[in-house]
Amino acid sequence: MDNIEQHAEQFNDSYERCIENPKPPGFLHRFYEIFLSSSEEVAAKFKNTDFERQTRVLKASLYYMMLSCNGSPAAMAHLQRLARLHSRKQLDIRPELYDLWLTSLLQTVREYDPRFGQQTEVAWRHVLGYGIAFMKSRY
Ligand code: HEM
Repeated sequence: MDNIEQHAEQFNDSYERCIENPKPPGFLHRFYEIFLSSSEEVAAKFKNTDFERQTRVLKASLYYMMLSCNGSPAAMAHLQRLARLHSRKQLDIRPELYDLWLTSLLQTVREYDPRFGQQTEVAWRHVLGYGIAFMKSRY
């Protein structure tokens, strides 16, 4: 299991198990609980955020991150817009915060995917690694 398509499939299956897991408060809300409590800097960035909307847009965005691995033009356009939004001129998200973002997300996956294991973790890291590297490089 070392090619990106297999990783994308494993990522996608795991992501669906997470989203479908009825455990409160729900996968994406739980992610923001964990992420915001990981750092005061992160919590401050989200102090005016509407989390109903935020979880909705993140849900789609994670699929775009997966598609951007294969260079899908629509996904690349999404990633470019997202990178500009997070860059120092706009939201000013320091590159180090993406490591916290990924750690928080993986901790949430561990809680919500009943079949979480080392291979699932590798798949999430590979699939999101591309988009994260891109966003960091556009800071
Ligand atoms: C690859 C990782 C990330 C992805 C996929 C992502 C995705 C998104 C998306 C889809 C939005 C909404 C854009 C819109 O309104 O159209 C957003 C907004 C935002 N993101 Fe990220 N993000 C990532 C990393 C981070 C990190 C590391 C931080 C650090 C604090 C962060 C902070 C924010 C903030 C403050 C907003 C604006 C929230 C608001 O509207 O109040 N993001 N992000």
